[in-house]
Amino acid sequence: MVWDPFTADDETYVSIDGELQPAATAAVSVFDRGFLYGDGVFDSMPVVDGDVLLLDRHVDRLYRSAAGIQLTLPQTKSTLKAEMLRAAARSNLEHGALRVMVSRGEGPPGIVNADLASDPTVVVVPIPKDAEEVAYGRDAPETGRARIVSTRAIDPDSIDAKIKSNNYLVNALAERELAGTDADYGIMLDHDGFVAEEFVSNVFVRDESGTIRTPPPTHALNGITRQLVLSVGAEEGYDVAEERLTPAELFAAEDVFLTASARGIVSVNAVNGRQIGDGSPSEAVLELARATLARARTEEATPIEG
Ligand SMILES: Cc1ncc(COP(=O)(O)O)c(C=O)c1O
Repeated sequence: MVWDPFTADDETYVSIDGELQPAATAAVSVFDRGFLYGDGVFDSMPVVDGDVLLLDRHVDRLYRSAAGIQLTLPQTKSTLKAEMLRAAARSNLEHGALRVMVSRGEGPPGIVNADLASDPTVVVVPIPKDAEEVAYGRDAPETGRARIVSTRAIDPDSIDAKIKSNNYLVNALAERELAGTDADYGIMLDHDGFVAEEFVSNVFVRDESGTIRTPPPTHALNGITRQLVLSVGAEEGYDVAEERLTPAELFAAEDVFLTASARGIVSVNAVNGRQIGDGSPSEAVLELARATLARARTEEATPIEG
C-alpha cells in the first residue's frame, strides 16, 4: 500500500511546529528555506505494532545533523519526542514510519538571508503502511538485485556524511538510473571510486574470512541500522570492521547486504548482474539480521499509546 493522504477516509495528522493538522491540508510557506534551498535536515524511523523503534537514536542524530548545519531546534529533545508521539497517536499509527523534517524556516528569498529566517520549521509526519510492509517487523531479510550507478555520492568535503540533510537530489538521480534495469537498489561510489552507500541505505559485505565490513562513516551516513548491526554483530561474536570497500570486494563477497530503518536488512543476491556468493543469504547473515531486528523491537521500542 502506498499511503495517500488525499483519500477521504485518511485519518493522518501531521504536526507543524507542535500544532496538529490534517495531513491533506497541512502546509508550510513557499518561502521556507527548506523548500528554497534544501536548507534543513530530517530523520525517519520505523513503527512496528504501535511502537516507535530506535526513537532516541534517531532524535539524537537529528539534533546532531541540525548542529552540523548550525541550526538550533526551538524545542528540547523530550518536547520533540512528545510531539512525535502525539502526532502518531492522533493518527492511530500502528505500522509504518515516523518522519521528522526540520528547516531553517521562512525568510525573504536570497541565499544571503539565512539570518532573517530565525524560526525553524519542525514537521512530524506519521506514514502508515501495511504491517507486512514494515521490514523491521520481520525477521527474514528481503532479497534483491543491486547496480553500481554512475552518480557519485556527495563528497564529504561538501557536506559531512554525518549530516542527514535535505539535499537528496544526488540520491534521487541515483535512483533514476535504475529505471529500465533489473535492479532494485543503486550503490553509489565515492569520489575515489570506493563503495560509499546505496541511495537510501548502507552497504555491508561478509568477506571470505567471515568478517562483516562496511565503509566508514566519513564516506557514508552513519545509519542507525548500520550502528546496530556493528554492535549486535560484535556482541554475537562476528568480526566486524569499518573500512573502505572496492567494487571488486563487493563482487568477491560471500554476502552483500544493505541496512536502513525503512528496509531493515536486505540481502543482495547480484550486483551488476553478477551473482553474489551462492545467490542466497548465508546462515550467518540470516542470523545477524534476526538478532539485529529483534534487538530493536525488544530493547529500543517506545509505545505510542494515546
Ligand atoms: C543515504 C542513506 N544512507 C543510509 C541510510 C540508512 O540509515 P538508517 O539506518 O539510519 O535508516 C539512509 C536512510 O535513510 C540514507 O538515506
